[in-house]
Amino acid sequence: MESKTVFKLFAVSQPGIEEITLSELEDLGIEGKVVPGGVEFKGGLKELYLSNLWLRTANRVIVRVASFKVKSFSELVKRVSRYPWDIYFPFSQKVKIRVTCKKSKLYHSKAVAERVLKGIHHRLKHQLEEAKFEDEGTSIIVRIENDFCTISINSSGASLHKRGYRVVETEAPLRETLASAMILASGWDKRTPLVDPFCGSGTIPIEAALIGANIPPGLNREFAFMKWKNFDESLWNQILEDARKEIRDFPEIYGFDISEHAVKAAIKNAEAAGVKVSFKVASFPTDNMPPLVYVITNPPYGKRIKVDAEKIYKKFGDWLKKTFSGYKVGFLAPSDRLALATGIKCKKIISFSNGGIRVNLYCNR
Ligand SMILES: C[S@@+](CC[C@H](N)C(=O)[O-])C[C@H]1O[C@@H](n2cnc3c(N)ncnc32)[C@H](O)[C@@H]1O
Repeated sequence: MESKTVFKLFAVSQPGIEEITLSELEDLGIEGKVVPGGVEFKGGLKELYLSNLWLRTANRVIVRVASFKVKSFSELVKRVSRYPWDIYFPFSQKVKIRVTCKKSKLYHSKAVAERVLKGIHHRLKHQLEEAKFEDEGTSIIVRIENDFCTISINSSGASLHKRGYRVVETEAPLRETLASAMILASGWDKRTPLVDPFCGSGTIPIEAALIGANIPPGLNREFAFMKWKNFDESLWNQILEDARKEIRDFPEIYGFDISEHAVKAAIKNAEAAGVKVSFKVASFPTDNMPPLVYVITNPPYGKRIKVDAEKIYKKFGDWLKKTFSGYKVGFLAPSDRLALATGIKCKKIISFSNGGIRVNLYCNR
């Protein structure tokens, strides 16, 4: 397969943020279609590399390799063996096979995984070994629904939320992909000073710094496609070089938290990310604040962290009104009741699950 091949690609994103992933793809000049759980698009190696490097809100980019009707195991092995698996598995390695079966004759996922591997082995000259845990390398996703089987290959490897900068964890951190989704959905202009008064381990300020300076989230990580037979290293290097040329200065970004431990973690994480953010141990500071700001934040809402959430949301709203002459705000809350407690006139922009809790992003834009 050479670079002219057109792949059927799918950017997997968390339900609720698919539209943001689509607009990220559009910014890369790629057209796509939103479906539940992600965005379908087509492209060659260039689009595959660009999407993996740049998507801030997707968890992985998968390639749809095979799709066919199937009702028996022998048919499954035969159909699977027709595809050019050597492209994705040019050498012996461990692979994780994830299978889901719905409303189909073949419903035993372990047996399906075994037959898929058998079909792949018919085609390869070497063996693959099934991994017990999600592999950091190339993994295979099999879905059989209404007797229709699709087999996809994960081109990203480790989930794209793993940017490589989270060196210290704190309580209830936000996923990097969700922090980016909040920032992008809030409509931040990437230049106005941005403040997170509940910064925890610094995820929102760090993601904002990457966005503001136009640094690709995947600049410093490895991807599964780098081990494929069709890996075009010169194309990849060109894409990286183009990206580096477009990096801008960091906008002013502030992160505050009442916890010293959290702020220490945020500083270490920002250092690892190579971004410039001003972090300080503080609760609702009023001194030396820029007058016009974007405030994007994930307050403690009392489910994962035990606090009097209503009181904190009210304090937060009062601080915004008192401290800034003009502010745009985007904050997370699990209910309209808590959002109302801020006293800020805002509307719900997106909803998603954060650590198993349904939350909404409220903005005053
Ligand atoms: C949900 S966590 C934020 C997580 C963060 N987005 C991350 O990715 O790590 C809420 C944070 O609010 C902080 N916090 C709680 N009460 C506070 C207060 N009164 N002033 C400032 N920070 C507070 C907690 O220490 C905690 O780190």
